[in-house]
Amino acid sequence: MPDLLYTEPRLAAVYDRLYPLSQPTLDFYLPLIMAAGSVLDVGCGTGALLAVAREAGHAGRLCGLDPAAAMLAQARQRADIEWICGDAGALRCPREFDLAVMTGHAFQALIEDAELHATLAAVRATLKSGGRFVFETRNPADRAWERWTPERVLEVDDGQGNRVRVTWQIEVPFDGRTVSFAETYTSTAWDTPRVSRSRLRFLDADGVARFLAQAGFVIEEQFGHFDRRPLTRESPEILTLARAGRAGSR
Ligand SMILES: C[S@@+](CC[C@H](N)C(=O)[O-])C[C@H]1O[C@@H](n2cnc3c(N)ncnc32)[C@H](O)[C@@H]1O
Repeated sequence: MPDLLYTEPRLAAVYDRLYPLSQPTLDFYLPLIMAAGSVLDVGCGTGALLAVAREAGHAGRLCGLDPAAAMLAQARQRADIEWICGDAGALRCPREFDLAVMTGHAFQALIEDAELHATLAAVRATLKSGGRFVFETRNPADRAWERWTPERVLEVDDGQGNRVRVTWQIEVPFDGRTVSFAETYTSTAWDTPRVSRSRLRFLDADGVARFLAQAGFVIEEQFGHFDRRPLTRESPEILTLARAGRAGSR
């Protein structure tokens, strides 16, 4: 079931205020996007990253894909970018893009092996010969979920003078593969809280490499931080730049 955070219009409307693009994320992804003629943002959410690229002068094709209509409704406030409502695994745009990105840990929403295989195969098929897929996933060794505790509170203004507040609660701890958690959103403008339930997969670097190879990608570079520090066993991120090679086998 899709997370309420992405499907409930009132939550999607405050998404960018709650989770703004960080400067390190922009510093990592924006130069890659600006250097590519055509770019697909897989799981683009509200489309904030492509909007920044257009504002920064990207003159080529920018296309965002996301299955959540409420998130895309935010993205569609910009008409100078293409938006597709759909699941990445069902994408059929053969050899149209120089670069595909998947940011904001959207990759971790792919839970089952079959979803990972279908998504990576579809992304690879959208890339022109030699095109690149760049994405990040949280390193399980960093155990980020241990910081998603009820004591952690995020509070922002919704832009209309109302306070929106988020708290986290782990529901199913890490089982070697996934973590399930609930986010409770309250607002001074709402009668009742809204609870968004999520499940994320934490693949380690070997798992990332295995799925990419099976989809016909060759890993060119990997980093452990958005500022391009090396990937180590304990680094928080697994940032991967993969080139579309020849199709692999499972
Ligand atoms: C954490 S948000 C990140 C959004 C955006 N990339 C960002 O950095 O702000 C994850 C997004 O992935 C999308 N998503 C989840 N499953 C997906 C799938 N199978 N294919 C494409 N997008 C998906 C969700 O709808 C959501 O908008």
